[in-house]
Amino acid sequence: MGPGRARRALRRLSLVLLAAAVALTAASCAAEHPLDTLTEAGPDAQEINDLFFPVLGVAIIVFFLVQGAIVYLAVRYRARRRAAAGSDGEADEDLYGDEEYPEQVHGNLRLELAWTIIPTILLTVISVFTLISLVELNRVSAAEEDLRVTVVGQQWWWEFQYHLDGDTSTPPDIVTANELVIPVRQQVPLEITSRDVIHSFWIPRLNGKRDAVPGRTHPWVIEADEAGRFMGQCTEFCGLSHAYMRMYTVALSAAEWRQWVEGQLADASPLAPGEPGYEGQEVFLANCANCHVVNGVTDTNLDGVPDGPGDYAGTGDFDAEPITSALLAGAAPNLTHFASRTTFAGSIFDLYEDRAERVPYLEASERGYLNRGDLEAWIRDAPERKANDADGARGMTAFPGLSDGEIDALVEYLTTLR
Ligand code: CUA
Repeated sequence: MGPGRARRALRRLSLVLLAAAVALTAASCAAEHPLDTLTEAGPDAQEINDLFFPVLGVAIIVFFLVQGAIVYLAVRYRARRRAAAGSDGEADEDLYGDEEYPEQVHGNLRLELAWTIIPTILLTVISVFTLISLVELNRVSAAEEDLRVTVVGQQWWWEFQYHLDGDTSTPPDIVTANELVIPVRQQVPLEITSRDVIHSFWIPRLNGKRDAVPGRTHPWVIEADEAGRFMGQCTEFCGLSHAYMRMYTVALSAAEWRQWVEGQLADASPLAPGEPGYEGQEVFLANCANCHVVNGVTDTNLDGVPDGPGDYAGTGDFDAEPITSALLAGAAPNLTHFASRTTFAGSIFDLYEDRAERVPYLEASERGYLNRGDLEAWIRDAPERKANDADGARGMTAFPGLSDGEIDALVEYLTTLR
């Protein structure tokens, strides 16, 4: 292939790549995109966007000024082929040989002052507004005795420990997973930490990202201006199933939220022989209760749930104390009110086929909507749906020994956990 054809092929390839990039970018802006950073639904996301859009505007202006100048200069002062260039259109090095050099200069005081001072002013202004926003985002206006939630990331799901009186030094009142349910228009302070590796908590329509680091507690807040269900995603690469570590924040009206709290505070009651779900409860106690807690039914009570980071971060000496040793009962999702949630398995599956966006959150557990297919497949062979780490020490294990009847019974039992 001659250099001319190669150049044409390259040009065609870059056009194709450009078109693909434009199409991908456009697709990522689809109106239905659940991880939407641009339509804020809370004061913190508003604060971020109030900073983001003006800075973006400045950046766009600078981009076009600089790129425009580059393109203009490149075209205006490009080397011209001598009139005697070969008729085959192929470039030839000595064609440019006697091109006249423009006058060579070094430095232009006025220009250099300009492109030093203008960016300095721009960046100073932007940094002042950035600092103001950072201070604002870290401001906690909630009172000491208001609701506070400890957020615990782990491979690959999120646990939410509710402290209704705001005192995070005592055992939590409610422990739930994957869905952080909050009252609308109330700032909820969060304490974000991790049981194993670094994760990052991010509900883009409500606030920015904050890392969950083992052995440390990072303060953060969450607040929604409107009732709704806001999707989030772990945003720090944390191992094989990082992409499957999702979560929701669900904002309910104050009255509905109280109703939700009342429901969550109640323990499950052990089922007696003959009651619907009893066989499933037996299967659960024999197979699942090693890791999963059901308050009032399994041996482990709330006091056994690791709470402060010190409880599960150990000495911090991970060589002496492998992180897998922290995977005891209480370090799998608490299932006391499993059926009151709308997703499971790190929020990668909907629990009900009629997706919760379209049903009121508190009524999501209406019978008849259960996503039985994914739930049964998950119980039978979880690693097949969501990869564990290589040595199988993280994530839910497979249960090849359970019969179809036992899995049916288990699902029946799980639906009783309202
Ligand atoms: Cu957890 Cu990525």
